[in-house]
Amino acid sequence: MAAGAGYCHGVAPRSAFAPHRHLVGIADLDAAAIGVVLDLADRYQAIAAEPVKKLATLRGKTVINLFFENSTRTRTSFEIAAKRLSADAVNISPSSSSAAKGETLLDTAKNLDAMGPDVVVVRHAMGGAPHLLARTLRCAVVNAGDGQHEHPTQALLDAATMRRHKGGIDGLEVAIVGDLAHSRVARSNLLCLTKLGARVRLCAPWTLIPPGLTELGGEVTRTRSRVTTRLEDALDGADVVMMLRVQHERTSGEAPRFANPREFSRTYGLSARTLKFAKPDAIVMHPGPINRGVELAPDVADSGRAVILEQVSWGVAVRMAVLELLAGDAAA
Ligand code: NCD
Repeated sequence: MAAGAGYCHGVAPRSAFAPHRHLVGIADLDAAAIGVVLDLADRYQAIAAEPVKKLATLRGKTVINLFFENSTRTRTSFEIAAKRLSADAVNISPSSSSAAKGETLLDTAKNLDAMGPDVVVVRHAMGGAPHLLARTLRCAVVNAGDGQHEHPTQALLDAATMRRHKGGIDGLEVAIVGDLAHSRVARSNLLCLTKLGARVRLCAPWTLIPPGLTELGGEVTRTRSRVTTRLEDALDGADVVMMLRVQHERTSGEAPRFANPREFSRTYGLSARTLKFAKPDAIVMHPGPINRGVELAPDVADSGRAVILEQVSWGVAVRMAVLELLAGDAAA
């Protein structure tokens, strides 16, 4: 069966997610398991429109948000997701934790685990940090972004947003444009979208294209993705245009990868002019935070073509689905 074929809305059997005790990367999920999360997220998205948004699903459970890197959307939406399911949510940041006193990540995590949480959601600058915790802790571990490696819930919320707008993922042409070298969002999306049957064009200057990117997911990404340095080529006939921020915080001390933001914007920025290369009904996505006027022109970011705030709202629904699948009674 072709990647992603057959998994339309509401048909993925829930047992397809059952083998997963943690969510550390899209790399571990198959199309059926991804379909389970997206179908459940559809149900939770409907609840966001209700006057009372709370369910008893995770009553008595505890979710700890352990964020060692800055976050607005991801941390807040995990907290809201936990609270909407009636779990107790605890937020920990490095400046207020013993990490500031020299405690290792593993020691911090083991101490938190000893308090009996059901889920630890972790964001860390080190690729592989959530995998290390998943191998060590008793509770479930969710990766909320590990360095330049993966950001699985972002890819899932992006897929949910695309499904809502395009009816499905299979057969979509998706352009991912920007700082591919430092983007965990690009890597998780590349894996997720190709597993679901989309074709992905990856676009950046050569200096921001990591070698072997299209090999990341083996045969599936090799045959369903390609790289290009020409924006027009990436956008030509695309159904979805996903723009990425230049992640300056990951390049401090390195030689610059491009001349300056103005030059980057002129060559790789999405404007009303360059968006015309994509399909007339193409949607514009961005994981946030946006650098307005660099990768994305403000008039495009604020236009009806952009679904950026919808992505944020799907973030809550998708994270509710993930928490329920990992900590709900069916997961026990
Ligand atoms: C992304 C991240 O942190 O990886 N943002 C997010 O989670 N919404 C992308 C970014 O920081 O540019």
